[in-house]
Amino acid sequence: MSAGKFPDRARIDALEKVQGLTRYPGDMPASRMLHAMIVPSRIAKGRLTGLDTAAALRVAGVVRVLTPEDFPSPPPVSEAGPPPPPPSLEQRIAFRGQPVALVVAESLEAAIEGAELVRPSFEVEPFAVEIDSKDSERDAAENVIFGDAQAAFARAAITIEAKYTSPTQHHNPIELLVTAAIWEDGRLTLYESTQSSAATKVATARALGLDPAMVDVKSAYIGGGFGQKGGSSQRQTVLVARAAMLLGRPVKIVVPRGQIFHQATYRPRSRHHIRLGADAGGKMIAAAYDAEQEQSRLGSFPAADYHEAPARMYGIENYHGTAADIRLDRQPPGWMRAPHPQAACFAFESAVDELAYELGHDPVALRLANDRRVDPLTGHPFSSRFLNECLEEGARRFGWSQRNARPGSMTASDGSLIGWGVACGAYPSRMVPAVATLRIGADGSTLYKASGHEMGQGIRTAIATVLLEALSIDPDRLEIVIGDTSAAPQHMTAGSWGTAGAVPAATKAAARMREAMTELLAGRRIQGNLHRQLAAVRRPSLQIEVTELGPGQGPEALASLRRGGFAVAGPEYPTFTTMSYIAHFVEVQVETRIRRVRVPRVVSIADCGRVISPRTAASQVRGGVVWAISAALREATEIDPRYGGYLNNDLADYVVAVNADIGSIDVGFIDQPDPLANSTGLKGLGEVAMAGASPAVANAIFHATGKRIRELPIRIEHLL
Ligand code: MOS
Repeated sequence: MSAGKFPDRARIDALEKVQGLTRYPGDMPASRMLHAMIVPSRIAKGRLTGLDTAAALRVAGVVRVLTPEDFPSPPPVSEAGPPPPPPSLEQRIAFRGQPVALVVAESLEAAIEGAELVRPSFEVEPFAVEIDSKDSERDAAENVIFGDAQAAFARAAITIEAKYTSPTQHHNPIELLVTAAIWEDGRLTLYESTQSSAATKVATARALGLDPAMVDVKSAYIGGGFGQKGGSSQRQTVLVARAAMLLGRPVKIVVPRGQIFHQATYRPRSRHHIRLGADAGGKMIAAAYDAEQEQSRLGSFPAADYHEAPARMYGIENYHGTAADIRLDRQPPGWMRAPHPQAACFAFESAVDELAYELGHDPVALRLANDRRVDPLTGHPFSSRFLNECLEEGARRFGWSQRNARPGSMTASDGSLIGWGVACGAYPSRMVPAVATLRIGADGSTLYKASGHEMGQGIRTAIATVLLEALSIDPDRLEIVIGDTSAAPQHMTAGSWGTAGAVPAATKAAARMREAMTELLAGRRIQGNLHRQLAAVRRPSLQIEVTELGPGQGPEALASLRRGGFAVAGPEYPTFTTMSYIAHFVEVQVETRIRRVRVPRVVSIADCGRVISPRTAASQVRGGVVWAISAALREATEIDPRYGGYLNNDLADYVVAVNADIGSIDVGFIDQPDPLANSTGLKGLGEVAMAGASPAVANAIFHATGKRIRELPIRIEHLL
């Protein structure tokens, strides 16, 4: 493993982005492009019995209305097989907003007008859309159990028990869901804003009966993904691909936000019943944690993962966890930034704060005293763990020692109540295979083609940082091609494993290139960068290819990646477990009369192993904290019990934090390489950045007001 700190480099795409030159999938030019609009179901459950398309087809510019008859019947789904194809148009209606037809037109305006004029008819069935609806179905719980919690509670000096709720939330990346499909000479090319171009390629081919070798998916830049653009199930993909095939012209769709609310995944509402037991010295000895979440009838977003962080965060040797799905007539929920820890850490880290008050211990000291080095789920050591260092550094920067622990005891000069809160987050650090080709030209060019997607997190900058540190090449002519199935096998870039795949591969590619150059020069000493050296020996270019696998991964992982599969390793590796950690310190100010909550400052210190790109890493953490503040104080999706669907399905009514809501966010890193997780010593950062910051806000509000709010978002009415 290499050591040393990386320099603070600007984003390599910064200038291009601020100049508006970056080409997103929706910007791809194509001649004779058609525009498509989805007709959504207006019922929540039942059957499509008819589609009157006559009026739509009379709109000038409308060229076709696709209906369920235009799609081949889907292939059978098998557990072991390739990813299931995205659903197309179906007669069976499983949720409100499900696509029932696709209008294709010469202009966007005509497509919209046509879509409004399609008249579907339905056979309606009773439905359940709310977690407490009487027709919901509760699955048997899954368990995460170790030690003997019952016996440990019996000997605990102090026990606390509470129930917490996290609401339904939608991702809302600013870039909408976008697909442009081009069908030419029996080849399908999709420009799509996706975190998972290979899975999209394979699944779309399967859904439409095509050879995957004849399909390519290109997703060079994504305007925010956050998990909504992961997986292989964007609802519009197969629809526009089929339209392009039937019409022989490029077809583009930009799904309106209101439809995205109803067709894409979301963070499910979840409830968390927690008991914590501690001995008189403040050692946490028992936890019982029952989690439940809303789920679609057939959805598989795993409830058991609510335990992935809480079960590992502190030295609790006796843990009794359950997790259950409550089945509803909704579209499937899915991964949304810090997927499970956002809700689980809100609950668990609020409970730890409650325990600290019950014990009369400082909440930082309580956490420091509950450190652990072994993963209780596997019995293996953590490969690295600097959570206590995060807490200590955060407390120092924040000035935590100045805190008066008594709720309501601290006030600002304008009389507002001040609250200081702390909470932590943890997230599994995973690894994914990556393949890369590096070509350096005597003409000054460098071309790097690899696995990975750029959704703004900075993966290109991380790759560039590594290449430019290791190789003497022209930075202005470095081209990085990622997210493109024609350039390299692509992994789904999610779950904080993107950089852990991309950077070790880039490191290896740079090393291999240096070796190849040394061999080529055969002892000759030539001045200048690699381009000049190539020119001096009259070699137009030099190319190498590398593959990087995760610990314990073999050729089958690579084969799976090449098939568009899910080849992720960790956080449980053969002999160790790897987690990323963060500690957040939050100050809130609560106005005494109207109880408005402000968050003037946050200090967040992360342990993500070795930091590759200091600037984009800090930016990742700031973004996660902003979202956690938004989740703590603003965001909730309102479900409509009368008709199914969502009431606040736009950014006017789904309230997110804006610049004026955000104060100072001071970000720091421990920056100690993990010795085992990968050759670079880095751990994932994007998800853990958000984990634990919402409970830090809630804990600060308790400190300010003495009110323990166990439901997000925390609103003025909770504090009156
Ligand atoms: Mo992430 S929520 O797995 O894109």
